[in-house]
Amino acid sequence: MFSLSLLPLPFSSLSFLPFFTASQEPISFHLIQISSFVNSTWIQYHGSGWLDDLQIHGWNSVTDTAIFLKPWSKGNFSDVEISDLVELFRVYTFAFIREMRAHVHEFQLEYPFEIQGIAGCELHPGGAILSFLRGALGGLDFVSFRNSSCVPAPEGGSRAQLVCTLLRPYGDIFHIVKKLLYETCPRFLLGVLEVGKADLQRQVKPEAWLSSGPSPGPGRLLLVCHVSGFYPKPVWVMWMRGDQEHQDTQRGDFLPNGDGTWHLQATLDVAAGEAAGLACRVKHSSLGGQDLILHWGGSVSIAVIILTVMVLCLVIALGLALWFWRHR
Ligand SMILES: *[C@@H]1O[C@H](CO)[C@@H](O)[C@H](O)[C@H]1NC(C)=O
Ligand SMILES: *[C@@H]1O[C@H](CO)[C@@H](O)[C@H](O)[C@H]1NC(C)=O
Ligand SMILES: *[C@@H]1O[C@H](CO)[C@@H](O)[C@H](O)[C@H]1NC(C)=O
Repeated sequence: MFSLSLLPLPFSSLSFLPFFTASQEPISFHLIQISSFVNSTWIQYHGSGWLDDLQIHGWNSVTDTAIFLKPWSKGNFSDVEISDLVELFRVYTFAFIREMRAHVHEFQLEYPFEIQGIAGCELHPGGAILSFLRGALGGLDFVSFRNSSCVPAPEGGSRAQLVCTLLRPYGDIFHIVKKLLYETCPRFLLGVLEVGKADLQRQVKPEAWLSSGPSPGPGRLLLVCHVSGFYPKPVWVMWMRGDQEHQDTQRGDFLPNGDGTWHLQATLDVAAGEAAGLACRVKHSSLGGQDLILHWGGSVSIAVIILTVMVLCLVIALGLALWFWRHR
């Protein structure tokens, strides 16, 4: 819906690109703006910058300054270019809030309302970069920027058409937006990927453990496989019987840990009698092909085997000692 343009890149010189483009997922840099217009005087404004799911910029709306959350959040941009951009966003947020307030009636809006904006660019496998800008009103698509102009979203109705019509004379603004989306953003994205490479390409192994969840019903068990502390995000978790993937495996949502790693759990609802012999299998890039495999009840049976062997050894040793003692 928000594809705008494909930008050919001279990426042969970029040694880090194969890593990012080898994955099948695009990687994006985007800014998110959330403004809540509570009443005519009370406005809350949140701005942030993200590399996929990782927040790398914040915005202090009291001092109107950017917050750089990573040592490499400025990418390869000079301090001068960064402060020019911060100044541009400062002017933009001020103008945005002023214009919205001034046109509340013209835009047929009623307090309270919330406006969300997302703008950025994404690097696709193969090296193409797509830019996008979308605005939403109250959580519904409202307008987008396509081919240098404002395009109303069907969900936005006549109000979105009106907003695009009112914006049409402001060619200068469209020119700046176009430059930011198609020139600045791709350059920043490639630069930040290169400067943040060590952090972004780090590999952190998952830890995994099993537990049982609340019983789903009489005679049934909920097996839970926890996988935690891994980075990067892509991971494969399945309940297995032997080599067969159990198709009823339910995967939860990815939850962020405080240190930037991820947590995920996979559950399986089975009849109590069928739990034996099941295992949870985890594949992750950090494991170098050595999948983690946790057997349901496996630790118990291993303990039983070890205990049995130890008791047997003890009995044999005692028997031998007794035999030697008798035959002396
Ligand atoms: C706007 O909302 C704020 C916070 O809810 C409140 O303190 C303030 O009195 C409101 N102002 C008006 C003009 O309604
Ligand atoms: C983009 O705009 C240009 C000039 O206004 C026009 O010639 C072109 O056909 C448009 N492209 C698309 C995909 O709408
Ligand atoms: C930053 O890196 C990108 C990609 O390597 C490059 O195109 C750009 O010229 C570099 N410098 C600046 C200031 O953007």
